Amino acid sequence: MEDKIKQIKEEFKEKIKNKSLKELKELETYFLGRKGKVSVLFQLFKTVPKERRKHFGAKINELKNFIEKNISAEIKRVESIEASRKLEDEKIDVTLPGIKLHTGGLHILSQTISHAEDIFLSMGFDVMVGPEIEEDYYNFEALNIPEFHPARAMQDTFYLSKKILLRTQTSPIQVRIMEKYKPPIRIIAMGRCYRKDAPDSSHFPVFHQIEGLVIDKKVTFANLKGTLSLFAKRMFGEAVKVRFTPSYFPFVEPGAETSISCVICGGKGCSVCKNTGWLEMGGSGMVHPNVLKNVGIDPEIYQGFAFGWGIERIAMVKHKIPDIRMFYQNDLRFLKQFRG
Ligand code: PHE
Repeated sequence: MEDKIKQIKEEFKEKIKNKSLKELKELETYFLGRKGKVSVLFQLFKTVPKERRKHFGAKINELKNFIEKNISAEIKRVESIEASRKLEDEKIDVTLPGIKLHTGGLHILSQTISHAEDIFLSMGFDVMVGPEIEEDYYNFEALNIPEFHPARAMQDTFYLSKKILLRTQTSPIQVRIMEKYKPPIRIIAMGRCYRKDAPDSSHFPVFHQIEGLVIDKKVTFANLKGTLSLFAKRMFGEAVKVRFTPSYFPFVEPGAETSISCVICGGKGCSVCKNTGWLEMGGSGMVHPNVLKNVGIDPEIYQGFAFGWGIERIAMVKHKIPDIRMFYQNDLRFLKQFRG
């Protein structure tokens, strides 16, 4: 018995050296646990002759206290070492350069839209919206383009069903606004349009338009010209001129293609304007009496003008972007140049 007690004490002294916190906890169970070395001694104790029990009882208790005291002291010591090591490891060096956060920015098309909005808001226009999934009636019928009208062929269309389609232009918003509000009307509306166009440097199946509509009692072509000229000057610079050339859109009469003088060469002729000195921006004209009749506005009392320009076109001209597909490729090298 005497030897056993000594042996366990020696074993403990040996084992407690250089232990981690986890190992110390295991060691505690190994010696003091229910089936531990010391508990086994207490079992053996029963076999000791009566007269020796007092002696051995004291010895075993002494061993137990010794182990308890030492192991808890060691646990405390290792705990504090581990805690300070952890503190050391997690120390933040505030003098190190920081990690740069990547922030987003507005897409150049969104910036162009906001810019155009600001210009028209300053001229007293309201900003409206309309659905991208549109009824055939609003996209074509009500705009004086009946079912077999050849003008439909100019706008290859994505149909969702026979009467529902992805709008090919923002002009259906004109009709929706005129149905809802009484003249005077002075609005712009912007948004995505869709056409079944094969992508190339100037075509993409998704693109944006800005639509303008003014209806009042004494609106003339001169107002259209003045409005678009002012918009172009604000958008592209004071030197820019707007040109109207006769063109056909079923929902205006007269209708005009609108171009601005080339912002690259100032109208002298260059590769961007294909030596014409002009850049086409979109259509415009005086709202056709049939369209006014379709929405219950008397064309004898009211007239108005409308225009529809391409937002991509505006951004391409303003920022010298050579290919419409760049807007949609999400190439950061392109997008970052226009960080808003
Ligand atoms: N919606 C026409 C187009 O997309 C443009 C346009 C708008 C023409 C308004 C006249 C008036 O081609």
